[in-house]
Amino acid sequence: MRHHWLLLGACGWVLLILMFVTKYINFRATDGYGERVVSQNWTESGTRTIKVQSLETKTKSSSRPAAQSSSAPSSAAASSSWQSVIDQRNRLLRAVCKDPALRNLTHNPVSKFVLDRIFVSDAHKILFCQTPKVGNTQWKKVLIVLNGAFPNVEEIPENIVHNHEKNGLPRLSSYRPPEITHRLDSYFKFLIVRDPFERLISAFKDKFVLNPRFEPWYKLDIAPAIIRKYRRFHGDHGAAEDERGAGLRFEDFVRYLGDAEGRHRLDRQFGAHIIHWLSYVELCAPCDIDYDVIGHHETLERDAAHILRAAGIDGLVTYPHIPPGITRYNRTKVQSYFSGIGKRDARRLFARYQGDFTLFGYERPGFVLD
Ligand SMILES: *[C@@H]1O[C@H](CO)[C@@H](O)[C@H](O)[C@H]1NC(C)=O
Ligand SMILES: *[C@@H]1O[C@H](CO)[C@@H](O)[C@H](O)[C@H]1NC(C)=O
Ligand SMILES: *[C@@H]1O[C@H](CO)[C@@H](O)[C@H](O)[C@H]1NC(C)=O
Repeated sequence: MRHHWLLLGACGWVLLILMFVTKYINFRATDGYGERVVSQNWTESGTRTIKVQSLETKTKSSSRPAAQSSSAPSSAAASSSWQSVIDQRNRLLRAVCKDPALRNLTHNPVSKFVLDRIFVSDAHKILFCQTPKVGNTQWKKVLIVLNGAFPNVEEIPENIVHNHEKNGLPRLSSYRPPEITHRLDSYFKFLIVRDPFERLISAFKDKFVLNPRFEPWYKLDIAPAIIRKYRRFHGDHGAAEDERGAGLRFEDFVRYLGDAEGRHRLDRQFGAHIIHWLSYVELCAPCDIDYDVIGHHETLERDAAHILRAAGIDGLVTYPHIPPGITRYNRTKVQSYFSGIGKRDARRLFARYQGDFTLFGYERPGFVLD
C-alpha cells in the first residue's frame, strides 16, 4: 500500500516537471511512439511541425484551395495532374511486386504485426499505415479528430496521440477477421514514404543522438546491445562511453541494420521499438495490401493535399503551407553520414533495404555504394 502512494507521488512530480518544461520549451511529438523532441524549425529533418487546422475552421478553410503552391493554376487542375504521379507510382509498385528476383524483399504476409501498424477511421472509411520517421504524427492527429475523440487537433494532448486505448484511433488488428477483410477491401488506404537511407539517418538521430533522454531504453538497452555485437574495435576510444550505453555510432547502426540474418535475435529482444528502422515492406506490406495512395515525404505538400482530397476529407481538415524545399531529399546529409562507412557495409545495408528503394522509385544511392 505504502509504495502505491510513493509511486503516485513520483508520478505527480514527473507530471509537474513535464508540465513546467513543456510550458517553456516548445515540445512537439514527431512520428514515433510517444516520442518527443525539442522542436527545431523546418530546417531540421525528423522534427517537422505540420499544423492541421481544426474542424471549427472548416468552413473558412474549405473555400481555399488545398494545394497552396503558387504555381498551381487551380486546385482541380493540380489535383488531376498529381493523380498521374500517383498512378505512375502505383504502376511501378505493382511491376516491382511481380519481380521474382526481388520477391523476398518486397512481399510480406499481412500479419498481426502489420495490422498493428494500420490505423482505422470508420467514420470516413480510411486506413492509414504508420511509417515512423516520415512525419506521421500529424496524420494520426487528423484521424483522431475525424473519429470524433477530440473536436480539433490542438486539443489532443501529446501523450494521447500515441495512446491507442484513449485516442479513439483503433488499430486494424483490434477487429475480427471478417471486419478486417471488409476494411482492407473497401476503405481508402494510404501510407507515406521517404528516401530509405534518409529515414534511417533520421531514426538514428532521433533515437540515439537528439533526444535519448525521453526514451531511455534506446540508450540503456538497445545501443549497448548493438555495440556489443557490431562494434569492430571494442578496445578503441569510447570504451567508458560504451559502459554507460551512450555513443552508438552511425557505423555500428549500419552494420546492425545490414546484418539480415544476425539481426533477428536482437530485434526480438528490442520489441516494438524496431518499427523506427524496419523497412516499409515489413511495416505495411505494400505488395500484399492494395494501397490507394503512396505519399512521398519529398513532395509532401502536393501529396498531403491529394490524400485529403482522395480520402474525401479535404473539406474537414487542411495542411497549412509547408515551406518549400524543406522536405526535399538532402544528398549532402546522406553523403556526410556515410562518409565514414565502408562500401561493404553500405552495400549490405542497401541490399537489406533494396525492396523499399525499388518499390517506391528511390534511386540507388551510387555515391555511397560504389
Ligand atoms: C531555423 O533555424 C536556423 C538556424 O538553426 C535559422 O537560420 C533559420 O532562420 C530558422 N528558420 C525559421 C523558419 O525559423
Ligand atoms: C528467398 O528466401 C528463401 C527463404 O528464406 C530462400 O530460400 C530463397 O533463396 C530466397 N530467394 C531469393 C531470390 O533471394
Ligand atoms: C543538408 O544537410 C547538410 C548536412 O547535414 C546541412 O548542412 C544542409 O544545411 C542541409 N541542406 C538543406 C537544404 O537542408
